[in-house]
Amino acid sequence: MSTTTDLPPSAHWLNAMARRRSVPAAGLVEPGPDGPTLERLLELATRVPDHAMLTPWRFIVIEGDARSQLGARLPQAYRDANPQMDEAKREKFAGIMSRLFPAPVAVVVVSRPNRDTMIPVFEQELSAGAVCMNLLHAAHGLGFAGIWVTGWAATNEKALGLLGVGEDEKVAGIIHLGTAREAPAERPRPDARALTARWTPPD
Ligand SMILES: Cc1cc2nc3c(=O)[nH]c(=O)nc-3n(C[C@H](O)[C@H](O)[C@H](O)COP(=O)(O)O)c2cc1C
Repeated sequence: MSTTTDLPPSAHWLNAMARRRSVPAAGLVEPGPDGPTLERLLELATRVPDHAMLTPWRFIVIEGDARSQLGARLPQAYRDANPQMDEAKREKFAGIMSRLFPAPVAVVVVSRPNRDTMIPVFEQELSAGAVCMNLLHAAHGLGFAGIWVTGWAATNEKALGLLGVGEDEKVAGIIHLGTAREAPAERPRPDARALTARWTPPD
């Protein structure tokens, strides 16, 4: 792959956007972003459109020992959430829950819409999604890799309680961050032209 150091700044940016790929959490290894770097990433992540400047999102960082401490507690949350499930199946999935945070750092992007405003909740949730995407791009820009996931830990009441997500909040995404063990292969991309119509006045 050719280097991009001779490209003008905008080309660097576009090139990075064109190349970014997600890497599964299990494929994210050390080094992850250290304290100051993560702070910088989160600062960049918050530079999103936000109708009426409501800041309808916040972060929960899971790093260091907190990963194994959370991993030790998630299986019981899974058992508590599924009391009727066949025991063998429940234990299998409970085991999976203990390994949900393998990457060096995970950032839970929490959507916390303000309901005392005219701004629709949907718009505020979209802003939280933009935070997730900004975080991925910023991490990629600093040479890290990541992935945006949700899944059981992001949606189940017991798991949300354990994470510290409030009842009036939702998880927009769990962004796992680290260094890609292997460079990810490209995947098929949608054809933007096939998804695009030009508006014309109705007859
Ligand atoms: C809101 C949201 C939730 C997602 N949840 C998961 C998930 O739980 N597990 C997963 O493997 N991918 C999930 N994905 C998909 C990945 O983030 C990603 O789109 C996919 O791996 C393709 O990677 P790309 O960024 O290289 O196109 C989710 C994507 C979004 C937008």
